[in-house]
Amino acid sequence: MSLELLLLGATLAVVFYIWQRRAFGFWQRHGVKFIRPIPLLGCTREFLTARVPFFEQIQKFHEAPGFEKEPFVGVYMAYRPALVIRDLDLIKTVMIKKFQYFNNRVLQTDPHNDALGYNNLFFARSPAWRELRTTISPVFTTGKIKQMYPLMVKIGKNLEDSAERLGSGSSVQVKDLCARFTTDLIATIAFGLEANALQNASSEFFYHNKAIFAVTLRRAIDFAIIFMLPAFASLARVKLFSKETTKFIRSSINYVLAERERTGQKRNDLVDILLALKREAAANPQKLSTPVDLDYLVAQAAIFQTAGFETSSSTMTLTLYELARNEALQDRLRQEITDYFGDEEHISYERIQEMAYLSQVVNETLRKYPIVGYIERECSQPAEGERFTLEPFHNMELPHGMSIYMSTLAVHRDPQYWPEPDKFDPERFDPANRDKLNMDAYMPFGVGPRNCIGMRLGLLQSKLGLVHLLRNHRVHTCDQTVKKIEWAATSPVIASKHDIVLRLEKVSV
Ligand code: HEM
Repeated sequence: MSLELLLLGATLAVVFYIWQRRAFGFWQRHGVKFIRPIPLLGCTREFLTARVPFFEQIQKFHEAPGFEKEPFVGVYMAYRPALVIRDLDLIKTVMIKKFQYFNNRVLQTDPHNDALGYNNLFFARSPAWRELRTTISPVFTTGKIKQMYPLMVKIGKNLEDSAERLGSGSSVQVKDLCARFTTDLIATIAFGLEANALQNASSEFFYHNKAIFAVTLRRAIDFAIIFMLPAFASLARVKLFSKETTKFIRSSINYVLAERERTGQKRNDLVDILLALKREAAANPQKLSTPVDLDYLVAQAAIFQTAGFETSSSTMTLTLYELARNEALQDRLRQEITDYFGDEEHISYERIQEMAYLSQVVNETLRKYPIVGYIERECSQPAEGERFTLEPFHNMELPHGMSIYMSTLAVHRDPQYWPEPDKFDPERFDPANRDKLNMDAYMPFGVGPRNCIGMRLGLLQSKLGLVHLLRNHRVHTCDQTVKKIEWAATSPVIASKHDIVLRLEKVSV
């Protein structure tokens, strides 16, 4: 018996060795320079052992010694070969010029058991993605955002009041405050709901928003599979949202949809668009490639809430952190805020767009801290017709399903594009320096037809929050302020490992 077991073990070890040799020989066979993998973990040991977040792992590939002049880097995500593209022209080719081959993202959840994760706009795959993007885009036109602006200003004023309540001299966990603001804002403009996160410390909406990004061991494993081993998503039955969060989102969005249908009220928001989609699908069931049931609609609402609250609150937080460390820049921005507000209580949509220094500051925050950190696409080769190759760099034809990554963080911190990359310097974006800027090396919202659909809204809400906070308050560093930001290793997006604490001081008039 023990001999049989020994033989079985030995056979399995030999089969594994041969399989792994073959799997890890992919880039060598194709003559592409690659990072040497280690057994089982490939090139992703640091991510798989929770030492670095996923976006930093991609940054490390981009910055690997010996690849400085390479247009791309061959890597192994565990056992899977993947390509990290470095050359800015190649990035444009993949993301824009040859987008027909790169419609989909790599990450995936379980198509059979995760209706909220699999079907939302971020995760959706073509052709369902294209239909959805066309349907949902009207929510983000300038006209629609302008219509919603008065609601946004109300939340801006609530933020100002919250700062007032916290009191001059208090030490504030800035991310918490900013995330309450963006939670309230997205809830009101997308769903017409009052989340009350700023007024109510234990707001249910805020609790669930935070839970989406809070990582337990189970969630960390789910995220590792979603990011790196999507082929196992079904087998492992991974879900984007936890059970508790799913229950909350389903019940609140179901309620909003039912109420809107019952009252017939129109707000020109996401809910109206979703109801129109539902009616269209009922009238013409053959037209769309995915059945439009209630969960399909809830999935779209859920991704708005998720993508909309975390990214913008981090942008605000990191801007405030940099401004607390550079008080001269903060004073210059406050002067602009004072000039633009004048004696008014609010600032108009048009006026906030005209604030040049505010734009420079937010652009620089997103240069130094591109919140999502990386961009990814999956290659789809057609069954017939011309196939995608890496020409003019290499004649290799990419295999169907190959994962492509691009490190925004590495490009944004590459001194050949951004001198002194660690310096927070809004002057880089001064129109007078336009000819020194290489905007191809700036992509905080991604690139091409699958870029961020919420870019305008994300910028606007971050700016609105900042002007309301800084109008009457100054932020300073204090004993609890971290000297250097370290990334939270288990966060899917850029986030500080430690709370960012700043001292708030009322500005005397
Ligand atoms: C400062 C704020 C934000 C940043 C930095 C940001 C960044 C990004 C990035 C880098 C992507 C991937 C783009 C690509 O793959 O090329 C993305 C996609 C997306 N973002 Fe944002 N985002 C922000 C705000 C928002 C807001 C406010 C919303 C919605 C309310 C939103 C909704 C989405 C959605 C739905 C996608 C997927 C689009 C698609 O696949 O068609 N984002 N975002």
